[in-house]
Amino acid sequence: MTTALSYTPTNFLYAAPLTDLRKTGLLTVQLDGHTIALFEHADRVYAVDNRCPHMGFPLDKGTVRDGILTCYWHYARFDLVSGGTFDQWADDVRSFPVELRDAAIYVDVALHQDPRVRQQERLAVGLERDIPLVIGKAMMTLLDSGDERWAGDPVSPFQTGLLFGARYREPGWGQGLTMFVCMMNLLSYLAPEDRPRALYHGLAAVARDSAGHPPRFCVPALPSTDNDLATLKRWFRQFIEVRDAEGAERCIVSALRAGADHRQMADMLFAAVTDHRYIDTGHPLDFTNKAFEALDIVGWEYAEPVLTSLVGGYASAMRMEESNSWRYPIDLVGMLKKAFAALPAALQAGQQVAAQQGVCDALVATLLADDPQVTVEEMLAALRGGCSLEALAQTVAHAAALRIARFHTSNEFGDWDTALHTFTFANAVHQGLRRSPSLELLRGVFDAAMSIYLDRFLNIPAARLPSPTGQPAPIVALEAQLAELTTLLDRQQQVNQAGQKLAQVLYGEEDLDRVLAHVGKLLLREDRDFHTIQAVEAALRHYRELQDPTSGVNVLVAAIRYLAAHAPTVRAQGQTFEIARRLHRGERLFEGE
Ligand code: FES
Repeated sequence: MTTALSYTPTNFLYAAPLTDLRKTGLLTVQLDGHTIALFEHADRVYAVDNRCPHMGFPLDKGTVRDGILTCYWHYARFDLVSGGTFDQWADDVRSFPVELRDAAIYVDVALHQDPRVRQQERLAVGLERDIPLVIGKAMMTLLDSGDERWAGDPVSPFQTGLLFGARYREPGWGQGLTMFVCMMNLLSYLAPEDRPRALYHGLAAVARDSAGHPPRFCVPALPSTDNDLATLKRWFRQFIEVRDAEGAERCIVSALRAGADHRQMADMLFAAVTDHRYIDTGHPLDFTNKAFEALDIVGWEYAEPVLTSLVGGYASAMRMEESNSWRYPIDLVGMLKKAFAALPAALQAGQQVAAQQGVCDALVATLLADDPQVTVEEMLAALRGGCSLEALAQTVAHAAALRIARFHTSNEFGDWDTALHTFTFANAVHQGLRRSPSLELLRGVFDAAMSIYLDRFLNIPAARLPSPTGQPAPIVALEAQLAELTTLLDRQQQVNQAGQKLAQVLYGEEDLDRVLAHVGKLLLREDRDFHTIQAVEAALRHYRELQDPTSGVNVLVAAIRYLAAHAPTVRAQGQTFEIARRLHRGERLFEGE
């Protein structure tokens, strides 16, 4: 826990007689709550914090040669004068000004800089050099809420990581940034003590994803802003069609400079990303949705570097028109082409009747059955019957979540990802339609429906969904039940047991926020995995937006089953973060247990 900070110009305190230091050349003193190592070197006196900034080892155990102090533990090296390190994984050590007065040593312990400023700089170093421990230590300081002056602000480090990831990865937006936005979205579900860990996971993912990549340079806008948005949107789609990323990027920058807002840009990007069927198993569309969510957090003024980072993924994506499974034995692409032609009339008919919201259970059953033509016809019928675009997208996303909830463990392990891709894609389409409903993006709902159809083998046989009836009444306290869930995820492949346990907790519990926070905690203690993070984040979001508690339980069952299938990991990332947390608390890592 940090203490309140006070800034004074100087605060020289008596430390020791010079003669004492001269006996050995080294002295350690306690001053104003600091343990300070005094060194005499080349007839001068130096004072540095005795705690090595790397992992806390006492620097008075180190050696000084030629003005360089070397820590005994991992050999980090520091300039004795300034405390500056030659090893970026270690950080600078704080050095204190020294004065000699009448053969006595005085040390200035005044705080001259807010440590958060320093840790913002360190966060940049951690990102640039992909050093998770540096990132973890920075997060602990930046999000410390030990007193009200230090109320943690996640937006500032989020902005740093977002802009870093958007610029320093030549291929553009990738898994790292997506995980980072997922983690930011998860903050509202998490217990306060888990929030720094979530941001640490996200930032570390961005650093790792950018490591070794050259930076990306944005193209400039067109010289004139005379082109209207409709023209830029049309050009943008044409350029993506012929896989010309640079031309497409110029359209984005030009549209932004012309004043396009987030809805107009969403309309433009979502149209292009759904001009072909389910491109790259849905990742580009999911990334697009996450990019807009990121801009909701940091502000629209960062739209240029963020949105242009998406274009490479659009231009290079595989299109499902090129895949066998979307063509044979049933031509799903041709089927969808006819359905898309019928969409304007269906929407027009739907406007004549009262709008229907929420998940349509009958349609969910059809989506999970095995006739794509019937699925398409019922989706069109739902639109004619007044089903809103958002409700149709939510229904399809719900069916996709149930594919995971009913995923049978006799499937190959890698097929968890097949079900996951469809769900996160469907969820992203749903969120995109909430932002900017359009006929073009509505095609994505149909793509998701076809992908659910193609995933039907994952539910043959189907795992049984936990039922609200027949659930034993909870006889133990919530914390004990959550501990049981935690124990299950300490063992491999407790997929069905974890699903049953979570359902039992949810059906009998009123403190659902506590349960959601625990699911988040179970995610964070594992090593970051792109798909698991996506699965949990999308499921929690979908759960919150559902009105029906039974349906919601099944969505969370899907999330915990996915998590259980991918746990436990070696938890190396969590170990690094724990080191950062213990250092922040002032614990002594170098002492035996
Ligand atoms: S180098 Fe000093 S603690 Fe690691």
